Amino acid sequence: MDLVNRTNTGIMEKAAPYLDQLKAGRRKLEESARRTVRPREMWQKIGESARSAAKICAKSAENAVQDALEKVTGIDAAGKDGKKSPGSRSYALITGASSGIGMEFARRLSLEGYPLILVARRRDRLEALRTELGTECLLLPADLQRREDLIRLCEDLVGRRIEIFINNAGFGVAGPFLGTELMREIGMVDVNVTAQHVLLKYVLHRMQAEGGGSILNVASAAGLLPGGPYMSGYYATKAYIASLTRGVAEELREEKSPVYVGCLCPGPVDTEFNAVADVSFALPGISAEYCVDYALRMMEKKRTVIIPGWQMQLAVLGGRFLPDALTVRLTGAQQKKKLG
Ligand SMILES: NC(=O)c1ccc[n+]([C@@H]2O[C@H](COP(=O)([O-])OP(=O)(O)OC[C@H]3O[C@@H](n4cnc5c(N)ncnc54)[C@H](OP(=O)(O)O)[C@@H]3O)[C@@H](O)[C@H]2O)c1
Repeated sequence: MDLVNRTNTGIMEKAAPYLDQLKAGRRKLEESARRTVRPREMWQKIGESARSAAKICAKSAENAVQDALEKVTGIDAAGKDGKKSPGSRSYALITGASSGIGMEFARRLSLEGYPLILVARRRDRLEALRTELGTECLLLPADLQRREDLIRLCEDLVGRRIEIFINNAGFGVAGPFLGTELMREIGMVDVNVTAQHVLLKYVLHRMQAEGGGSILNVASAAGLLPGGPYMSGYYATKAYIASLTRGVAEELREEKSPVYVGCLCPGPVDTEFNAVADVSFALPGISAEYCVDYALRMMEKKRTVIIPGWQMQLAVLGGRFLPDALTVRLTGAQQKKKLG
Protein backbone atom coordinates (compact mmCIF):
# COMPACT_ATOMS: atom_id res chain seq x y z
CA MET A 1 0.00 0.00 0.00
CA ASP A 2 2.87 2.26 0.90
CA LEU A 3 4.33 1.74 -2.51
CA VAL A 4 0.94 2.54 -4.10
CA ASN A 5 0.55 5.71 -1.99
CA ARG A 6 4.09 6.81 -2.75
CA THR A 7 3.56 6.17 -6.46
CA ASN A 8 0.26 8.10 -6.40
CA THR A 9 1.86 11.01 -4.58
CA GLY A 10 4.71 10.99 -7.08
CA ILE A 11 2.28 10.98 -9.99
CA MET A 12 0.26 13.79 -8.39
CA GLU A 13 3.40 15.88 -7.87
CA LYS A 14 4.44 15.38 -11.49
CA ALA A 15 0.92 16.02 -12.73
CA ALA A 16 0.39 19.12 -10.55
CA PRO A 17 1.74 21.70 -13.05
CA TYR A 18 -0.32 20.12 -15.84
CA LEU A 19 -3.43 20.14 -13.64
CA ASP A 20 -2.84 23.81 -12.92
CA GLN A 21 -2.52 24.45 -16.64
CA LEU A 22 -5.72 22.51 -17.24
CA LYS A 23 -7.56 24.54 -14.57
CA ALA A 24 -6.27 27.78 -16.10
CA GLY A 25 -7.35 26.57 -19.54
CA ARG A 26 -10.81 25.75 -18.21
CA ARG A 27 -11.11 29.20 -16.63
CA LYS A 28 -10.17 30.73 -19.99
CA LEU A 29 -12.73 28.54 -21.78
CA GLU A 30 -15.45 29.52 -19.29
CA GLU A 31 -14.52 33.17 -19.68
CA SER A 32 -14.60 32.95 -23.46
CA ALA A 33 -17.93 31.06 -23.28
CA ARG A 34 -19.29 33.92 -21.17
CA ARG A 35 -18.03 36.37 -23.78
CA THR A 36 -19.59 34.47 -26.65
CA VAL A 37 -22.97 34.48 -24.92
CA ARG A 38 -22.99 38.26 -24.61
CA PRO A 39 -22.39 38.97 -28.29
CA ARG A 40 -25.11 36.45 -29.17
CA GLU A 41 -27.61 38.29 -26.96
CA MET A 42 -26.34 41.53 -28.31
CA TRP A 43 -26.69 40.37 -31.91
CA GLN A 44 -30.21 39.14 -31.17
CA LYS A 45 -31.04 42.62 -29.91
CA ILE A 46 -29.35 44.25 -32.88
CA GLY A 47 -31.00 41.78 -35.23
CA GLU A 48 -34.43 42.64 -33.81
CA SER A 49 -33.88 46.37 -33.91
CA ALA A 50 -32.26 46.16 -37.36
CA ARG A 51 -35.18 44.08 -38.66
CA SER A 52 -37.79 46.43 -37.29
CA ALA A 53 -35.74 49.44 -38.38
CA ALA A 54 -35.40 48.02 -41.87
CA LYS A 55 -39.14 47.27 -41.98
CA ILE A 56 -40.11 50.68 -40.68
CA CYS A 57 -37.57 52.51 -42.76
CA ALA A 58 -38.21 50.67 -45.97
CA LYS A 59 -42.00 50.69 -45.68
CA SER A 60 -43.41 53.05 -43.11
CA ALA A 61 -40.94 55.89 -43.51
CA GLU A 62 -41.23 55.69 -47.29
CA ASN A 63 -45.04 55.50 -47.03
CA ALA A 64 -45.13 58.30 -44.49
CA VAL A 65 -42.99 60.45 -46.76
CA GLN A 66 -45.14 59.56 -49.79
CA ASP A 67 -48.42 60.09 -47.89
CA ALA A 68 -47.11 63.32 -46.51
CA LEU A 69 -46.11 64.46 -49.98
CA GLU A 70 -49.48 63.59 -51.42
CA LYS A 71 -51.21 65.50 -48.63
CA VAL A 72 -48.82 68.41 -49.13
CA THR A 73 -50.00 68.99 -52.69
CA GLY A 74 -53.60 69.11 -51.48
CA ILE A 75 -53.31 70.79 -48.10
CA ASP A 76 -50.25 72.98 -48.10
CA ALA A 77 -50.35 76.64 -48.91
CA ALA A 78 -47.96 76.26 -51.83
CA GLY A 79 -48.90 74.35 -54.94
CA LYS A 80 -46.80 72.24 -57.31
CA ASP A 81 -46.25 75.30 -59.48
CA GLY A 82 -44.26 76.70 -56.60
CA LYS A 83 -46.44 79.76 -56.08
CA LYS A 84 -47.14 80.63 -52.48
CA SER A 85 -50.75 81.43 -51.63
CA PRO A 86 -51.26 84.86 -50.08
CA GLY A 87 -50.80 84.80 -46.35
CA SER A 88 -48.90 81.48 -46.33
CA ARG A 89 -46.24 81.34 -43.66
CA SER A 90 -42.89 79.70 -44.27
CA TYR A 91 -41.14 78.07 -41.36
CA ALA A 92 -37.53 77.51 -40.45
CA LEU A 93 -37.27 73.93 -39.21
CA ILE A 94 -34.37 73.16 -36.85
CA THR A 95 -33.51 69.77 -35.38
CA GLY A 96 -31.32 69.68 -32.28
CA ALA A 97 -32.63 73.11 -31.26
CA SER A 98 -32.41 72.48 -27.50
CA SER A 99 -28.69 73.29 -27.33
CA GLY A 100 -25.53 74.56 -29.04
CA ILE A 101 -25.49 75.19 -32.77
CA GLY A 102 -29.19 74.38 -33.29
CA MET A 103 -30.25 76.75 -30.50
CA GLU A 104 -28.13 79.53 -32.00
CA PHE A 105 -29.71 78.98 -35.43
CA ALA A 106 -33.10 79.29 -33.71
CA ARG A 107 -32.11 82.63 -32.15
CA ARG A 108 -30.78 84.03 -35.44
CA LEU A 109 -33.63 82.83 -37.64
CA SER A 110 -36.19 84.08 -35.14
CA LEU A 111 -34.54 87.52 -35.30
CA GLU A 112 -34.82 87.34 -39.08
CA GLY A 113 -38.56 86.92 -38.67
CA TYR A 114 -39.07 83.23 -39.38
CA PRO A 115 -41.68 81.29 -37.47
CA LEU A 116 -39.80 78.27 -36.13
CA ILE A 117 -40.40 74.55 -35.85
CA LEU A 118 -38.09 73.22 -33.15
CA VAL A 119 -37.17 69.57 -32.68
CA ALA A 120 -35.16 67.81 -29.94
CA ARG A 121 -35.83 65.34 -27.12
CA ARG A 122 -35.74 67.84 -24.21
CA ARG A 123 -39.13 69.54 -24.31
CA ASP A 124 -38.33 71.75 -21.28
CA ARG A 125 -35.35 73.22 -23.12
CA LEU A 126 -37.47 73.89 -26.21
CA GLU A 127 -40.14 75.55 -24.06
CA ALA A 128 -37.53 77.74 -22.37
CA LEU A 129 -36.21 78.74 -25.79
CA ARG A 130 -39.71 79.61 -27.01
CA THR A 131 -40.18 81.83 -23.93
CA GLU A 132 -36.79 83.47 -24.51
CA LEU A 133 -37.50 84.19 -28.18
CA GLY A 134 -41.07 85.33 -27.74
CA THR A 135 -41.76 84.66 -31.42
CA GLU A 136 -43.84 81.93 -33.07
CA CYS A 137 -42.32 78.53 -32.25
CA LEU A 138 -43.98 75.22 -32.90
CA LEU A 139 -42.41 72.55 -30.68
CA LEU A 140 -42.23 69.02 -32.02
CA PRO A 141 -40.23 67.05 -29.44
CA ALA A 142 -38.86 63.82 -30.92
CA ASP A 143 -36.18 61.27 -30.28
CA LEU A 144 -34.70 60.95 -33.75
CA GLN A 145 -33.09 57.67 -32.77
CA ARG A 146 -36.60 56.15 -32.82
CA ARG A 147 -38.09 55.43 -36.23
CA GLU A 148 -41.63 56.01 -34.87
CA ASP A 149 -40.67 59.55 -33.80
CA LEU A 150 -39.04 60.21 -37.15
CA ILE A 151 -42.17 59.16 -39.02
CA ARG A 152 -44.42 61.13 -36.65
CA LEU A 153 -42.27 64.19 -37.26
CA CYS A 154 -42.64 63.85 -41.05
CA GLU A 155 -46.40 63.54 -40.60
CA ASP A 156 -46.57 66.53 -38.24
CA LEU A 157 -44.79 68.65 -40.83
CA VAL A 158 -47.51 68.06 -43.41
CA GLY A 159 -49.27 71.28 -44.34
CA ARG A 160 -46.50 73.50 -43.04
CA ARG A 161 -44.38 75.22 -45.65
CA ILE A 162 -40.68 74.94 -44.80
CA GLU A 163 -38.37 77.56 -46.24
CA ILE A 164 -35.22 76.77 -44.27
CA PHE A 165 -34.24 73.43 -42.83
CA ILE A 166 -31.29 73.12 -40.45
CA ASN A 167 -30.69 69.36 -40.33
CA ASN A 168 -28.53 69.52 -37.24
CA ALA A 169 -29.32 67.04 -34.44
CA GLY A 170 -26.38 64.77 -33.73
CA PHE A 171 -23.87 63.55 -31.20
CA GLY A 172 -20.52 61.80 -30.94
CA VAL A 173 -19.19 58.67 -29.30
CA ALA A 174 -15.51 58.76 -28.37
CA GLY A 175 -12.97 56.11 -27.46
CA PRO A 176 -11.05 53.28 -29.06
CA PHE A 177 -13.35 51.31 -31.38
CA LEU A 178 -12.84 48.10 -29.39
CA GLY A 179 -13.92 49.86 -26.21
CA THR A 180 -17.00 51.84 -27.32
CA GLU A 181 -20.51 50.64 -26.60
CA LEU A 182 -22.08 49.18 -29.72
CA MET A 183 -25.70 50.12 -28.95
CA ARG A 184 -24.70 53.73 -28.33
CA GLU A 185 -22.88 53.79 -31.65
CA ILE A 186 -25.91 52.34 -33.41
CA GLY A 187 -27.94 55.13 -31.79
CA MET A 188 -25.43 57.62 -33.16
CA VAL A 189 -25.75 56.17 -36.66
CA ASP A 190 -29.56 56.34 -36.30
CA VAL A 191 -29.46 60.06 -35.46
CA ASN A 192 -26.43 61.31 -37.43
CA VAL A 193 -27.03 59.24 -40.56
CA THR A 194 -30.51 57.68 -40.81
CA ALA A 195 -32.53 60.57 -39.38
CA GLN A 196 -30.53 63.20 -41.28
CA HIS A 197 -30.87 61.19 -44.50
CA VAL A 198 -34.64 60.60 -44.13
CA LEU A 199 -35.33 64.22 -43.19
CA LEU A 200 -33.15 65.53 -46.03
CA LYS A 201 -35.07 63.41 -48.53
CA TYR A 202 -38.44 64.33 -47.08
CA VAL A 203 -37.85 68.07 -46.87
CA LEU A 204 -36.10 68.17 -50.26
CA HIS A 205 -39.12 66.50 -51.92
CA ARG A 206 -41.36 69.05 -50.25
CA MET A 207 -39.21 72.04 -51.25
CA GLN A 208 -38.94 70.82 -54.85
CA ALA A 209 -42.73 70.51 -55.00
CA GLU A 210 -43.22 73.88 -53.33
CA GLY A 211 -40.84 75.80 -55.55
CA GLY A 212 -37.75 76.38 -53.41
CA GLY A 213 -36.00 76.49 -50.08
CA SER A 214 -32.66 76.04 -48.34
CA ILE A 215 -31.32 73.03 -46.49
CA LEU A 216 -28.21 72.96 -44.34
CA ASN A 217 -26.99 69.55 -43.22
CA VAL A 218 -24.78 69.91 -40.18
CA ALA A 219 -21.84 67.58 -40.79
CA SER A 220 -18.38 68.39 -39.39
CA ALA A 221 -14.81 69.06 -40.47
CA ALA A 222 -14.40 65.47 -39.24
CA GLY A 223 -16.40 64.42 -42.29
CA LEU A 224 -13.85 65.96 -44.65
CA LEU A 225 -10.93 63.99 -43.23
CA PRO A 226 -10.00 60.46 -44.31
CA GLY A 227 -10.60 59.02 -40.83
CA GLY A 228 -10.58 59.84 -37.12
CA PRO A 229 -9.05 57.26 -34.81
CA TYR A 230 -10.59 57.20 -31.30
CA MET A 231 -13.82 58.67 -32.67
CA SER A 232 -13.90 56.51 -35.79
CA GLY A 233 -17.67 55.93 -35.91
CA TYR A 234 -18.48 59.62 -35.44
CA TYR A 235 -16.07 60.68 -38.21
CA ALA A 236 -17.64 58.05 -40.48
CA THR A 237 -21.18 59.38 -39.85
CA LYS A 238 -20.04 62.90 -40.72
CA ALA A 239 -18.20 61.70 -43.86
CA TYR A 240 -21.52 60.15 -44.91
CA ILE A 241 -23.38 63.46 -44.54
CA ALA A 242 -20.64 65.48 -46.27
CA SER A 243 -20.56 63.05 -49.18
CA LEU A 244 -24.36 62.83 -49.41
CA THR A 245 -24.65 66.61 -49.47
CA ARG A 246 -22.04 67.05 -52.19
CA GLY A 247 -23.69 64.43 -54.37
CA VAL A 248 -27.22 65.77 -53.92
CA ALA A 249 -26.07 69.39 -54.40
CA GLU A 250 -24.54 68.47 -57.75
CA GLU A 251 -27.77 66.71 -58.84
CA LEU A 252 -29.74 69.83 -57.91
CA ARG A 253 -27.29 72.10 -59.72
CA GLU A 254 -27.53 70.00 -62.90
CA GLU A 255 -31.30 70.14 -62.94
CA LYS A 256 -31.33 73.85 -62.01
CA SER A 257 -33.37 73.12 -58.91
CA PRO A 258 -34.69 76.08 -56.92
CA VAL A 259 -33.55 74.31 -53.75
CA TYR A 260 -30.17 74.96 -52.16
CA VAL A 261 -28.44 72.17 -50.18
CA GLY A 262 -25.18 72.67 -48.34
CA CYS A 263 -23.31 71.18 -45.42
CA LEU A 264 -21.79 72.90 -42.43
CA CYS A 265 -18.41 71.42 -41.51
CA PRO A 266 -17.09 73.14 -38.38
CA GLY A 267 -14.12 72.08 -36.32
CA PRO A 268 -14.55 72.30 -32.53
CA VAL A 269 -17.46 74.53 -31.42
CA ASP A 270 -18.12 75.42 -27.76
CA THR A 271 -21.40 73.59 -27.10
CA GLU A 272 -22.57 70.64 -25.03
CA PHE A 273 -21.14 68.31 -27.68
CA ASN A 274 -18.00 67.45 -25.69
CA ALA A 275 -19.89 66.74 -22.48
CA VAL A 276 -22.19 64.35 -24.38
CA ALA A 277 -19.22 62.64 -26.07
CA ASP A 278 -17.27 62.71 -22.78
CA VAL A 279 -14.20 64.40 -24.28
CA SER A 280 -12.42 67.72 -23.91
CA PHE A 281 -11.14 69.96 -26.70
CA ALA A 282 -7.60 69.37 -27.95
CA LEU A 283 -7.91 72.58 -30.03
CA PRO A 284 -9.69 75.80 -28.97
CA GLY A 285 -13.30 75.86 -30.15
CA ILE A 286 -15.15 78.66 -31.95
CA SER A 287 -18.38 80.03 -30.48
CA ALA A 288 -21.76 78.77 -31.67
CA GLU A 289 -22.62 82.43 -32.47
CA TYR A 290 -19.67 82.80 -34.85
CA CYS A 291 -20.31 79.38 -36.38
CA VAL A 292 -23.96 80.16 -37.13
CA ASP A 293 -23.30 83.71 -38.32
CA TYR A 294 -20.69 82.42 -40.79
CA ALA A 295 -22.96 79.57 -41.90
CA LEU A 296 -25.87 81.92 -42.64
CA ARG A 297 -23.63 84.23 -44.69
CA MET A 298 -22.29 81.29 -46.71
CA MET A 299 -25.80 79.88 -47.21
CA GLU A 300 -26.72 83.15 -48.89
CA LYS A 301 -23.76 82.60 -51.23
CA LYS A 302 -25.03 79.04 -51.79
CA ARG A 303 -21.75 77.39 -50.79
CA THR A 304 -21.99 73.59 -50.77
CA VAL A 305 -19.32 72.99 -48.12
CA ILE A 306 -19.11 75.57 -45.33
CA ILE A 307 -16.11 75.55 -42.99
CA PRO A 308 -16.20 78.34 -40.38
CA GLY A 309 -12.87 79.73 -39.16
CA TRP A 310 -9.64 80.16 -41.11
CA GLN A 311 -7.73 77.72 -38.89
CA MET A 312 -10.04 74.86 -39.79
CA GLN A 313 -10.13 75.92 -43.47
CA LEU A 314 -6.33 75.77 -43.44
CA ALA A 315 -6.31 72.38 -41.69
CA VAL A 316 -8.72 70.89 -44.25
CA LEU A 317 -6.76 72.42 -47.12
CA GLY A 318 -3.46 71.19 -45.66
CA GLY A 319 -4.94 67.71 -45.33
CA ARG A 320 -5.42 67.60 -49.12
CA PHE A 321 -1.66 67.84 -49.67
CA LEU A 322 -0.68 65.22 -47.11
CA PRO A 323 -0.86 61.47 -47.69
CA ASP A 324 -4.12 60.13 -46.19
CA ALA A 325 -2.24 57.75 -43.88
CA LEU A 326 -0.34 60.66 -42.34
CA THR A 327 -3.51 62.78 -41.96
CA VAL A 328 -5.25 59.89 -40.20
CA ARG A 329 -2.26 59.47 -37.87
CA LEU A 330 -2.17 63.19 -37.03
CA THR A 331 -5.94 63.25 -36.49
CA GLY A 332 -5.65 60.24 -34.19
CA ALA A 333 -2.98 62.00 -32.13
CA GLN A 334 -5.31 65.02 -31.69
CA GLN A 335 -8.27 62.80 -30.87
CA LYS A 336 -6.29 60.86 -28.28
CA LYS A 337 -5.59 64.12 -26.42
CA LYS A 338 -9.35 64.65 -26.08
CA LEU A 339 -9.96 61.41 -24.20
CA GLY A 340 -9.93 61.71 -20.43
N1 LIG B 1 -19.63 71.11 -31.14
C1 LIG B 1 -18.76 70.70 -32.01
O1 LIG B 1 -17.54 70.71 -31.79
C2 LIG B 1 -19.22 70.22 -33.38
C3 LIG B 1 -18.31 70.22 -34.42
C4 LIG B 1 -18.72 69.79 -35.66
C5 LIG B 1 -20.02 69.38 -35.86
N2 LIG B 1 -20.89 69.36 -34.82
C6 LIG B 1 -22.25 68.89 -35.08
O2 LIG B 1 -23.16 69.92 -34.78
C7 LIG B 1 -24.44 69.35 -34.47
C8 LIG B 1 -24.98 70.01 -33.22
O3 LIG B 1 -24.14 69.70 -32.14
P1 LIG B 1 -23.76 70.75 -30.99
O4 LIG B 1 -22.32 70.99 -31.07
O5 LIG B 1 -24.69 71.89 -31.01
O6 LIG B 1 -23.98 69.80 -29.71
P2 LIG B 1 -25.07 69.87 -28.53
O7 LIG B 1 -24.98 71.17 -27.85
O8 LIG B 1 -24.85 68.63 -27.74
O9 LIG B 1 -26.47 69.78 -29.31
C9 LIG B 1 -26.90 68.58 -29.91
C10 LIG B 1 -28.37 68.71 -30.25
O10 LIG B 1 -28.79 67.48 -30.89
C11 LIG B 1 -29.96 67.01 -30.23
N3 LIG B 1 -30.04 65.55 -30.25
C12 LIG B 1 -29.11 64.65 -29.88
N4 LIG B 1 -29.61 63.42 -29.94
C13 LIG B 1 -30.88 63.53 -30.36
C14 LIG B 1 -31.93 62.61 -30.59
N5 LIG B 1 -31.78 61.28 -30.38
N6 LIG B 1 -33.13 63.07 -31.02
C15 LIG B 1 -33.33 64.40 -31.21
N7 LIG B 1 -32.37 65.32 -30.99
C16 LIG B 1 -31.18 64.90 -30.56
C17 LIG B 1 -29.83 67.51 -28.78
O11 LIG B 1 -31.12 67.66 -28.20
P3 LIG B 1 -31.71 66.72 -27.02
O12 LIG B 1 -30.55 66.23 -26.21
O13 LIG B 1 -32.63 67.64 -26.27
O14 LIG B 1 -32.43 65.65 -27.74
C18 LIG B 1 -29.22 68.89 -29.01
O15 LIG B 1 -30.23 69.84 -29.26
C19 LIG B 1 -24.22 67.85 -34.34
O16 LIG B 1 -24.66 67.21 -35.52
C20 LIG B 1 -22.71 67.73 -34.20
O17 LIG B 1 -22.23 66.51 -34.68
C21 LIG B 1 -20.53 69.80 -33.57
